[in-house]
Amino acid sequence: MTYEYILIEHPAPGVALVRLNRPKQYNALNLRLLQELAHAFRTLDEDDDVRAIVLTGNDKAFAAGADIKEMMDKTAVQMKNAPFISGWDAVALAKKPVIAAVSGYALGGGAELAWACDIIIASETAVFGQPEINLGIIPGAGGTQRLARTLGKYLTMEIVLNDRRLTAAEAERFGLVNHVFPVDTYLEEAIKMAARLASRAPLALRFGKEAVLYAFNSTLDAGLQHERLLFYTLFCTEDQKEGMHAFVEKRTPQWKGT
Ligand code: CAA
Repeated sequence: MTYEYILIEHPAPGVALVRLNRPKQYNALNLRLLQELAHAFRTLDEDDDVRAIVLTGNDKAFAAGADIKEMMDKTAVQMKNAPFISGWDAVALAKKPVIAAVSGYALGGGAELAWACDIIIASETAVFGQPEINLGIIPGAGGTQRLARTLGKYLTMEIVLNDRRLTAAEAERFGLVNHVFPVDTYLEEAIKMAARLASRAPLALRFGKEAVLYAFNSTLDAGLQHERLLFYTLFCTEDQKEGMHAFVEKRTPQWKGT
């Protein structure tokens, strides 16, 4: 697939950078862009040379949401039949760690793309919001669920029902954002973090991500069982032997991903 609205770069060993690239429309997410994003994430997730992914926009906009002009005259059936949600799903279903590097507007489906990632690095100018209520709709790509699980009921209600926007500093305070950096450095910092993730034992990364995400869908008992199973399974890997022997021998481990 050739990409018209996204760019893929490899800024550090093991790191893929996916840039949303529809700058005149603040990276509004049209169907073509969403299909490209889904294709790119599925491809990168299967590529053994990629161990961590950074998703970004530009300094002014991460993404201003789904494309309103494209959606406005659609019927419910057309919306349901189009592979519309596949872009967000592909990001959320990636097995490798995904960092959102967010600057400027992250609104509606744009914010929901960030919520689908595992770690969020923001610039000081980032603004997060779910303004769908102004269009007579509600978030449709995970916003109500992922925000409620992270922020709880009351703040999420205000964001979804009354278009409360969060600055980067507020988002960090509420635990929605991992770190905030100046606009000149947020992307570099996100890539640095991704490079560090990419240098780690790949199977442990994958299982760690799986275990944390399991907490969103399960009871504590089921989650603890699942974590234990993944923990024991890692003792089948060469990397577990290598990691522990390297520690005891006071040397840097050489991960194989096996
Ligand atoms: N869809 C389509 N086009 C969009 C867009 C969107 N979500 N956001 C911005 N654009 C376009 C504008 O139409 C405009 O295009 P033209 O120059 O052709 O008119 C261009 O981008 C620049 O936008 P503005 O002139 O509005 O720029 P601004 O600086 O005054 O405002 C903004 C910027 C605050 C981001 C404003 O554009 C805005 O509020 N955008 C809409 C945000 C929104 O409501 N997002 C939710 C979408 S619905 C959704 O995402 C559903 C879901 O859950 C999946």
